[in-house]
Amino acid sequence: MSGPLVLAVESSCDETGIALVEGGRRIHANVVASQVALHAPTGGIVPEVAARAHLRWVVPVLDEAWQAAGVRWSDVDAIAVTYGPGLAGSLLVGINFAKALSYVHRKPLVAVNHLEGHVYAAWLLDPGEAERAEPIFPLVALVVSGGHTFLVEMRDHITYRLLGPTVDDAAGEAFDKVGRLLGLGYPGGPAIMAAAAGATRHDAVFPRAWLGDTFDFSFSGLKTAARRIIAAARADEGLPADEGRPGAAPVPRLSEDATAELADGFQESVVDVLATKTIRAAETVGARSIVLGGGVASNHALRGRIADEAAAHGMPLLIPRPGLCTDNGAMIGAAAARRLAAGERAGLDLDARPSLPLATPA
Ligand code: KG4
Ligand code: ZN
Repeated sequence: MSGPLVLAVESSCDETGIALVEGGRRIHANVVASQVALHAPTGGIVPEVAARAHLRWVVPVLDEAWQAAGVRWSDVDAIAVTYGPGLAGSLLVGINFAKALSYVHRKPLVAVNHLEGHVYAAWLLDPGEAERAEPIFPLVALVVSGGHTFLVEMRDHITYRLLGPTVDDAAGEAFDKVGRLLGLGYPGGPAIMAAAAGATRHDAVFPRAWLGDTFDFSFSGLKTAARRIIAAARADEGLPADEGRPGAAPVPRLSEDATAELADGFQESVVDVLATKTIRAAETVGARSIVLGGGVASNHALRGRIADEAAAHGMPLLIPRPGLCTDNGAMIGAAAARRLAAGERAGLDLDARPSLPLATPA
C-alpha cells in the first residue's frame, strides 16, 4: 500500500456513499446508494425522508464496499466522515455510523468538509486506472453543485482562499428549478442536459449575471428570467401556466422542440458564466492548473467549454469522471488523507456542522 487506507462515509445530502481509498488517491471500492427515485415524486429533497433513507442504506452500502475492496479491518488506517455542510439529519446518520466504526475498531476518526471532498475528487484514480499527474499548485477550483457554487484558489494542500461565492443561488439549484418549469422532473441538471442535446436551433437567449469584474456568481435573476421566458413560450403554444412547484400535479409540457431550445439557452447561460469566470480567475491568480468538482461539473456542455478554453490557455485541467463529480464517499477519502497527513483527528464528540464553510472571503 502507498499511503493510509481510509474508509470514508458520505451522507450529507441524498446519496449514501461509502468508499475505501488508499493514499488519498487509489479507489478500492466506492459504493453510492442514490435517493433520486425516492425524491422524484416530490420534485426535491425532503430532509426527513433523506435522513431515514441513509439510516436504512448505510449498512448495506458498507457491506457492498467491504466486499468490493476485499480488505480486512487490520488494513484500515482511519475512518473519515463528512461533518458538513449539508442537511443536519442526513449528516448525523453518517457521523454516528463513522463514530461507531472508529470506536469499535479503534481507528482514528477524521472529519471532512464535503466541499473539500468535491475539490479532492480530482486526485482520485479508479481501480486499475493508470497513474497520471496530480493537479499542480497554485490551482483554481470551481465547485459547482446543488447547494454551492464558488471559485477558490489553492496554493497548497487543504488551504483555500475564496475568490468568488454565489451571492444567492447555486447553479445546480437553478438547473433543478428550470427543470421543474420545463416539466422535466428531478433532478433538473441531467434532464436539462439531455433535452438541450436535442436542440436544433440555438436562438433562445437567457441573461448572464456578470457582476462586474468580480468572481462572484448569481443565478437567482436567471431563474426569474427563465420563469418569464418559459411562461411566454407556454402562452405561445396555448398551454396553461405552470409555476413548476415541487410535487405539483403534472400539466401538459411544451413541445419537444421548444423544450430543447429553452434547455439549451438556459444551459448556455450557466456554462458561459461559469467557464468565463473560471478561466479569468485562473489567469488572474497565475494558476498552473484548474480543477472542477460538484454535480454540475458532470455537465457535458460545461466540461467541453472549459476544456476548450483551458487548452487555448495552455492550462492543465482536471475534471473527475461524472460519477465522481456527484456526491460519493471516495472524494471524502481523498480529502481525509490530506487531513490525516496534517495530523488532524476528530474526537468522538464530533457534531454535524450544517453550514460549515470551506473558506472565508479573502
Ligand atoms: O454535488 P451534488 O451531487 O450534490 C450536492 O452537493 O449538491 O450535486 C447535485 C446537483 C443537482 O442540482 C443536479 O441537478 C446537478 O448537480 N447536476 C447537473 C448534472 N448532473 C447533476 N447539472 C447539470 N448537468 C448535469 N449533467
Ligand atoms: Zn456535493
